[in-house]
Amino acid sequence: MGITCSFLSLFTLWGTVNCSSADEETDVPTEIPTWTSTLILKGRNISTLSTRAFTPNGTKLEIMTLLLPNNGIQAIEPYAFRGLTRLHVLDLSHNQLESISPRAFHGLPELRSLYLNSSFLPSATAQLQNALSTQTLRNLHRLELAGNDLKSIPLEKLDIYHLHDLVLVNNSLEKIERENISSLYRQKRIRVYLSLNPFRCNCDLEAFYYWLKNSSQCPDAARILCSEPESKRGIPVEKLRGEDVDCMNENLEAVSYVLLGIVSALIGVVFLMVLYLNRRGIKRWLNNIREACRDQMEVYHYRYEQDSDPRLASVAV
Ligand SMILES: *[C@@H]1O[C@H](CO)[C@@H](O)[C@H](O)[C@H]1NC(C)=O
Ligand SMILES: *[C@@H]1O[C@H](CO)[C@@H](O)[C@H](O)[C@H]1NC(C)=O
Ligand SMILES: *[C@@H]1O[C@H](CO)[C@@H](O)[C@H](O)[C@H]1NC(C)=O
Ligand SMILES: *[C@@H]1O[C@H](CO)[C@@H](O)[C@H](O)[C@H]1NC(C)=O
Ligand SMILES: *[C@@H]1O[C@H](CO)[C@@H](O)[C@H](O)[C@H]1NC(C)=O
Ligand SMILES: *[C@@H]1O[C@H](CO)[C@@H](O)[C@H](O)[C@H]1NC(C)=O
Repeated sequence: MGITCSFLSLFTLWGTVNCSSADEETDVPTEIPTWTSTLILKGRNISTLSTRAFTPNGTKLEIMTLLLPNNGIQAIEPYAFRGLTRLHVLDLSHNQLESISPRAFHGLPELRSLYLNSSFLPSATAQLQNALSTQTLRNLHRLELAGNDLKSIPLEKLDIYHLHDLVLVNNSLEKIERENISSLYRQKRIRVYLSLNPFRCNCDLEAFYYWLKNSSQCPDAARILCSEPESKRGIPVEKLRGEDVDCMNENLEAVSYVLLGIVSALIGVVFLMVLYLNRRGIKRWLNNIREACRDQMEVYHYRYEQDSDPRLASVAV
């Protein structure tokens, strides 16, 4: 602990301290000037953001913007940002978070924007959800979670924040739960960005479909495309027809196919039964036909024989 920001890479401009050093520093610098309002650390190998990582000796810092992209951060310990009571913007994008304490973001009552683009592994999603479920983020206006392979919205409730923008583009969302749609309707000011997700356009999407069409809470609605089923791939979800996402319709269709199958099977069985029960009658009937045919043939044969004689006679003449 305690590697300082190299002076060659440190420059100050309007309170900005930029420590984007090329040499792989492995820690947060300890000597951060108290007048710093923006701190940028990039391309370092930090791996763990420990408790009070920025204020180890207990002082408070006035930092308002803290940018920590691309630092190979894998773990965030409880109260990692303690002492940064004025922090408004926190960027943790492009890291490899594997473990996040539920109290990682405690002590950030002023935080307005939190960027977590491509920053955590799928195994850490549940932990992230816990870390975000904290009253101390009550002033959060903007939350960016792009590129994290998310399969669901990692927020339990929306009413604990003050969200205006929730960015969920480029994840693995196949649908949005009905429950989540209800909470979105209740948070009228919130805008949700959802393009580049592989939506499955079946009847599970019904509530989402009407929310897209009804609410204007989704600015990138036109770019939300179906990826399944095959027949609807590439079609914007909001351009589907009501019956495409109507579960009643889908069930009715399934039921009608089943009914058709049952009816055909019944008809087949009845037909076979009739054949079976009438096998004597049918045999008799076939015999009758055969006999009738034989009689006819005999009549023809007889006539032929009768007719042939005179002809033969005339030829002979
Ligand atoms: C604590 O750290 C700050 C800056 O990191 C420094 O200015 C201050 O003198 C330190 N205080 C003590 C008591 O060491
Ligand atoms: C980062 O630092 C850790 C030790 O803190 C080390 O094991 C690892 O190899 C480093 N990674 C890179 C890419 O330098
Ligand atoms: C990711 O976060 C950055 C802030 O570091 C933001 O400017 C950018 O728009 C975000 N990218 C995406 C794809 O949303
Ligand atoms: C989507 O996210 C992945 C994973 O983070 C990233 O590699 C890719 O560049 C992103 N794609 C776009 C179009 O932003
Ligand atoms: C979203 O839906 C999931 C699953 O139904 C639920 O656990 C979660 O609390 C919901 N979140 C919001 C913000 O509605
Ligand atoms: C909103 O969605 C519902 C279905 O949930 C639909 O019946 C209604 O017509 C829609 N309202 C508007 C204004 O589009």
